[in-house]
Amino acid sequence: MKLRVEDLGKHYGESVVFAHVSLVVEPGEFVAIVGESGVGKSTLLNCMAGLDRWDSGRVLHGELDIGELDAEKRALWRRKQVGFVFQAFHVLPHLDVAQNVGLPLMLLGQQDDARVAGMLAAVGLEGLGGRLPEQLSGGQLQRVAIARALVHRPALLLADEPTGNLDPSTAARVMDVLLAQTREHGASLVLVTHSDAAAARADRVLHLNASGIRE
Ligand SMILES: Nc1ncnc2c1ncn2[C@@H]1O[C@H](COP(=O)(O)OP(=O)(O)OP(=O)(O)O)[C@@H](O)[C@H]1O
Ligand SMILES: [Mg+2]
Repeated sequence: MKLRVEDLGKHYGESVVFAHVSLVVEPGEFVAIVGESGVGKSTLLNCMAGLDRWDSGRVLHGELDIGELDAEKRALWRRKQVGFVFQAFHVLPHLDVAQNVGLPLMLLGQQDDARVAGMLAAVGLEGLGGRLPEQLSGGQLQRVAIARALVHRPALLLADEPTGNLDPSTAARVMDVLLAQTREHGASLVLVTHSDAAAARADRVLHLNASGIRE
């Protein structure tokens, strides 16, 4: 399904975060968003996921107008259609690695241990399913967050600096896993990144600044 952001604007009081942001992401397409720190990349991604409110414009996923959905419908849409990798992981500390990764499937009533094990292997965490998050390194935690975002094969994958804590070769491997979701399952991937290597693999690179977004 196509993701369309139309003339989106967001401010906190008098302070404008961004304005007039329009973009389209086709199914199977990988779009990278770059820009200076504080320019609103995470905020924009959160708006696309319906996690944050905006002040003007629209976000559409297929025919669905995300801003028109009530909180419950928006949560259901997100649960089914969206995979989100947070800049700060948001791994649940009391669940082990496999439970964290399997959470989206559990919420959909589609528990599948083999799928979870497959995802863990895909991000290089085989054998670590029984560990608690506190027993992992930063880069391993980041890969737990990525496996969790992919496990339910979402149509829309939104990732905020997903390779920020990884060495170049692990980062490249994680990018392969994210891209497989778009190339093999036709998901749309929007990736916020400061990494030139990650942006270089995108179909398009969009630069965000205070006045809008440009290719
Ligand atoms: N709750 C808030 N109230 C006021 N301003 C906020 C709030 N949350 C974020 N901001 C501001 O909005 C702007 C955009 O923040 P955002 O986190 O989206 O930036 P970013 O581009 O993701 O930066 P980085 O590259 O450092 O992650 C920042 O200037 C930030 O200070
Ligand atoms: Mg950010």
